[in-house]
Amino acid sequence: MSTPANWPLLEADNVSVTFPVSGGLLSKKRVVHAVNQVTLKIHAGETLGLVGESGSGKSTLGRALLQLEKINEGEVRFDGHRVTHGLKSDIARLRLQTAMIFQDPFASLDPRQTLGESISEVLRVHRKVPRNQISARVEELLTLVGLRPEHAAAKPGQLSGGQCQRAGIARALAIEPRLIVADECVAALDVSIQGQIVNLLMDLREKMGLAILFIAHDLAIVRRLCDRVAVMYLGRIVEEGPAEAVFTHPRHPYTAALVSAIPEIDPDKPLPQETLAGEPPSPVAIPQGCAFHPRCPYAQVQCRTGALPPTRQIADHAWTCVLTHAGEKSVFPLTEGSFDEAQAS
Ligand SMILES: Nc1ncnc2c1ncn2[C@@H]1O[C@H](COP(=O)(O)OP(=O)(O)O)[C@@H](O)[C@H]1O
Ligand code: SF4
Ligand SMILES: [Mg+2]
Repeated sequence: MSTPANWPLLEADNVSVTFPVSGGLLSKKRVVHAVNQVTLKIHAGETLGLVGESGSGKSTLGRALLQLEKINEGEVRFDGHRVTHGLKSDIARLRLQTAMIFQDPFASLDPRQTLGESISEVLRVHRKVPRNQISARVEELLTLVGLRPEHAAAKPGQLSGGQCQRAGIARALAIEPRLIVADECVAALDVSIQGQIVNLLMDLREKMGLAILFIAHDLAIVRRLCDRVAVMYLGRIVEEGPAEAVFTHPRHPYTAALVSAIPEIDPDKPLPQETLAGEPPSPVAIPQGCAFHPRCPYAQVQCRTGALPPTRQIADHAWTCVLTHAGEKSVFPLTEGSFDEAQAS
């Protein structure tokens, strides 16, 4: 049984999010299945990477976990308390203890406010420190993210993209969150700046015991930063496990294709744009059976119709595919090796 000491900080159970889409005049109403029955856990201090092609539902899931998107089905628990249709006090706690960092560092800051004003505002609204200590705390936060106290007087337009992203992180940290959802927060930055921001997040995790949901399509960065990785395809998590196991031993053909497209295991190199042949199908018309079947080189008859593929599991590494363990060598030649998850866990 879970106790406060060992229950996950955040838990999603069978969460689905759909959006209505307007069809033509005569066509019936349709929906986009952006997130489909997702179950996941994030523990305190843990960094979970969430990867998948554009449109796979990563941002929607990240927002849904923080109750910034309406959930159609399933529930989210924060610190053991239900927040989906939960008590006001439990939802308020989620708001107080979680923050989001976005891709566009300029968009998350008000161009008319100085960094000092924008961070003080958060400290004031959340009553984090007494009024007479606000400016000292602003300086402290700026220093924590590698900016200088003088930056408090600067407006976003006077800063570089990397400096702005640091300021966005300082603003997110002002509430002293226990969980941050970072949605493609380095994607818009130069590679060298990306490395600096990733180092900063690793450092903050160490110092503050932050849990991070790190949404990214760059697997090299995810490998460097994350403890665990979840791979999303058309709204579903198709593979999830310890980062090292997923990267050295991808089990789902989709993950294997993504991983094989990493040019070399060089954490500073970004992923090439073209990782897989073909586009993912539209989430309005998700293929029957295994949704990956139209692109899967190993698809079998039963993948094209009927039920979802079964979930398979080795230790705490899980994936959904009809292929049995025995088919592994032909499917995943790139993963051959001596790594043994059952022993490693
Ligand atoms: N507000 C919305 N209204 C309608 N469709 C949406 C909305 N937000 C996202 N979607 C659709 O949901 C799917 C998942 O989107 P998103 O979560 O942004 O994916 P990702 O972050 O992985 O690129 C996409 O097909 C997208 O077009
Ligand atoms: S279930 Fe079938 S189509 Fe889906 S990934 Fe496995 S082999 Fe490919
Ligand atoms: Mg997104």
